[in-house]
Amino acid sequence: MKRLFILLFFALLIIAAAMIVANSLRATNEDAYTPIIEPVDDEYTILPKEQGVFERAKYATDYENLPYDIPGERDLSDYYKTQAYHGAPPYVPHPVSDDRNIGDGQCLQCHQNGGFVVIYDAYAPVTPHPEKVNCRQCHVTKETNSLFKASNYERLEAPSIGNKALVSSPPVIPHQLQLHENCLACHAGPSAPKEIRVTHPERVNCRQCHVVNNLEVVPVPDFTRKSE
Ligand code: HEC
Ligand code: HEC
Ligand code: HEC
Ligand code: HEC
Repeated sequence: MKRLFILLFFALLIIAAAMIVANSLRATNEDAYTPIIEPVDDEYTILPKEQGVFERAKYATDYENLPYDIPGERDLSDYYKTQAYHGAPPYVPHPVSDDRNIGDGQCLQCHQNGGFVVIYDAYAPVTPHPEKVNCRQCHVTKETNSLFKASNYERLEAPSIGNKALVSSPPVIPHQLQLHENCLACHAGPSAPKEIRVTHPERVNCRQCHVVNNLEVVPVPDFTRKSE
């Protein structure tokens, strides 16, 4: 009886060992799988989809070697002139040839990589979002120089720059990240407004040092006041 028990015990051990070996062999042949974790859909979720800045990084050394004073360079007041309010899509300040010509790369011929455009005597600003091919869904042409109708509309003003904890700390990012994922599009190159042209375009991972503080732009509701 005792011998039978020992035999049975060893038989079980051998079966278990065989199963472990077989399972581990099967597991090594399986494809690795990392489940995609869906982002939480709350209203303060920001969308950092920053591959654009890494794609533009190949121009970083060119940007770094640009001369400091660029003829006809823009400043922030030029930048804000084409926007109805801070963060609004700028209107198209030049004529647009074919109204129906949407999304076939026409606009990207000049706005993908920028560069000097002789007919407009200006540098074309690089678009931060070349993947949004239907440009005129958001960017409209200017139809009139006067108001359609007077109103009491007040423009949302831009936040101030230079907001940093210590003299040499990285300033905070005062704007939202959505539609701003490609930092180098606006902060480097000859069309970047001179006040915000970055001295270090080669440090590609911008958000390693710069944090967002756009509370001035999107005030977070103060729930504590309600209980007063
Ligand atoms: C979903 C709306 C949307 C679409 C589509 C869109 N844009 Fe924009 N674009 C914006 C907004 C909003 C801004 C302004 C961001 C800011 O200044 O805060 C902007 C900014 C810009 C700027 C200004 C950058 C600078 O340095 O002055 C250019 C140029 C531009 N877009 C070109 C384009 C082109 C070209 C396309 C098509 C390939 C396009 N956009 C598609 C919303 C859009
Ligand atoms: C021939 C080159 C060229 C083409 C094509 C072109 N643009 Fe431009 N775009 C420019 C230049 C140059 C400027 C700068 C003008 C200036 O600063 O006076 C500009 C400025 C802009 C601006 C204003 C950006 C700002 O921050 O003020 C927007 C928006 C814009 N273009 C959208 C478009 C759209 C949309 C199309 C396609 C329908 C388009 N562009 C096609 C050269 C071009
Ligand atoms: C559509 C153009 C645009 C894009 C894209 C953009 N910015 Fe800006 N940025 C601005 C403008 C304009 C200002 C000036 C303040 C304002 O109007 O919000 C600014 C201000 C800043 C400042 C403050 C500078 C100072 O001297 O205080 C920092 C830092 C900054 N941006 C970082 C970033 C980073 C990091 C990214 C990429 C995640 C980025 N920006 C993408 C247009 C842009
Ligand atoms: C290693 C940290 C670090 C990284 C990465 C970094 N920055 Fe900065 N940034 C700083 C510091 C520090 C300052 C302040 C410099 C000063 O005041 O002398 C600064 C200043 C700035 C300014 C104000 C103008 C200037 O150049 O002084 C802008 C705009 C800016 N950074 C944008 C960017 C952008 C866009 C990127 C990504 C291409 C980036 N930064 C990557 C640390 C960083």
